[in-house]
Amino acid sequence: MKAAELLAKIRVNGTVPRHIAIIMDGNGRWARERNLPRPLGHRSGMKSVRDVVEGSLEAGVDVLSLFAFSQENWQRPPAEVRALMALLQEFIARESEDLRAQGVRVRVLGDLSRLAPGAASAAEQLVARTAENSRLTLNLFISYGGRAELVRAARWIARDVRDGRLDPDAVDEEALSSRLYTSDCPDPDLLIRTSGEQRISNFLLWQSAYAELYMSPVLWPDFSRSDLFEAITAYQHRDRRFGRVPA
Ligand code: IPE
Ligand code: IPE
Ligand code: MG
Repeated sequence: MKAAELLAKIRVNGTVPRHIAIIMDGNGRWARERNLPRPLGHRSGMKSVRDVVEGSLEAGVDVLSLFAFSQENWQRPPAEVRALMALLQEFIARESEDLRAQGVRVRVLGDLSRLAPGAASAAEQLVARTAENSRLTLNLFISYGGRAELVRAARWIARDVRDGRLDPDAVDEEALSSRLYTSDCPDPDLLIRTSGEQRISNFLLWQSAYAELYMSPVLWPDFSRSDLFEAITAYQHRDRRFGRVPA
């Protein structure tokens, strides 16, 4: 089905996930299938980012979280890491004006202390430039790991307890979730992974407790807004129970 038809169907149903998270995977395999170097797969994946941002705006999603680079990805060959960081900067330079004009508020979340200074300051500028927007929040997860995020929150709580700002008995789910990068976002309703892999790979471990999972066989550079709309359509047919019995 074409994107416009899928979007019309989504609108008729009316239930749109407030927060969609995507593990953008399969760039390397996309390149290998074409006998191209892996960085060209990453480059080709940038247009899919543009497409899902636009699809999210059209569908009326509030928050789009994209897993762009994991903490574990630092262990890839230095040339690939360098290529990914250069692409990040290129993406920011190219897209920042359109994102601002389209009402997208961008945030870059993760351990940014490990980024090269050029990439970190480009990211900071993009965040500052779009901070007043409110149509769609785009969370770009870079140098991010779900376990590291939880460790960071645990340290923060420990410090607050030590310094008398927090009573140990007041440590509850809210105390923890308010110390995550996503503290001001609803939890993801829909978690998409591309490229056919059936795993979470350390993405949003806490936040995805009740996310609906959607594994797409499509490699990320081939993922289009129609694929996003298909995922939303599948989501609309899910029965979310949160541990309760159906009404
Ligand atoms: C996803 O594509 C992008 C990043 C993880 C940075 P991959 O580079 O993991 O592609 P595959 O999984 O090797 O095909
Ligand atoms: C997950 O993909 C990380 C990102 C998409 C940024 P990976 O390709 O790194 O995950 P694994 O190694 O297949 O689990
Ligand atoms: Mg991969």
